[in-house]
Amino acid sequence: MDDINKITYDPDRMRKEINSLKEQKNAIILAHNYQVAEVQDIADFTGDSLELARKAATLDNDVIVFCGVDFMAETAAILSPDKAVLLPAAEANCPMADMISAGELRVLKERFPDAAVVCYVNTTAEVKAESDICCTSSNAVKVVESLDEDRIIFVPDKNLGSYVSRFSDKEILPWEGFCFVHDRITPQDVKEARNLHPEAEVLVHPECRAEVIDLADGVYSTSGMIRHVCSSPGKEFIIGTEIGILHRMKKECPQKTCYPLSSQAICTNMKKTDLNKVYNSLKDLTPQVVVPEEIADRARKAIIRMLEVR
Ligand code: 13P
Ligand code: SF4
Repeated sequence: MDDINKITYDPDRMRKEINSLKEQKNAIILAHNYQVAEVQDIADFTGDSLELARKAATLDNDVIVFCGVDFMAETAAILSPDKAVLLPAAEANCPMADMISAGELRVLKERFPDAAVVCYVNTTAEVKAESDICCTSSNAVKVVESLDEDRIIFVPDKNLGSYVSRFSDKEILPWEGFCFVHDRITPQDVKEARNLHPEAEVLVHPECRAEVIDLADGVYSTSGMIRHVCSSPGKEFIIGTEIGILHRMKKECPQKTCYPLSSQAICTNMKKTDLNKVYNSLKDLTPQVVVPEEIADRARKAIIRMLEVR
């Protein structure tokens, strides 16, 4: 097979080559809901963090091409240590995940020895290894409520921590991390969007600030928003999360109209993967995500414990 990106970047040819490489290598392509349209369209499965983790835990492929950011591919690698997990854009990271280190978490655990540690899946493998249980945006409340402890160290997202505390009597001790994409959405953005589209329902992600959540009609994970748009009798929706999600909404619920709450809500890291990188990654089986065994074994316990919460 020739190296097609040296010749030309022809999307149709690229798609054919990717599909044939996928078969040759017994690979599957997983993509997060924020990925660019061409990547979502070539993926075998597109979902939110919890769906992607559940999927990664059950696959029998030899190779997983993970189109997302580093912590998501790490989670897949931890759950599937015998498979090659590829992150086509090696530099795609989540700045929020890097806002707390394992050392900082250890200091917190010493200060609050009676507290359980819940880490958002948007964390490094080292931080997961220091945690009792992991959570995602779609199960954070259930995860916290599943614990016996009354005091919870919640890392790293202060906004998700504050959202969980609305539904729990437990004492939540949030770390001061945040997602730059969601944290910069303002109440003014909601007011302006409602003025423009007075009939539309406002749906936001729990990584948004409390004052934005107060103004919303519903709070959902990314896939939760897609399900709500498709199943709700409403016809118009204002979507308060990263704008890549609008592609799936248009595809899966073409009869509904979805507007971005903020056109600035773009996660640059989620946009680093394209067809060319997926092709190269499959061709060379690189860049591969490898988590050291000792860290992976401890982190896996926190992830599996989360997957067992229903
Ligand atoms: P979801 O799990 O809701 O897809 O969120 C992932 C994420 O990174 C949101 O910024
Ligand atoms: Fe991280 Fe925010 Fe990007 Fe999600 S949208 S991957 S939380 S930076």
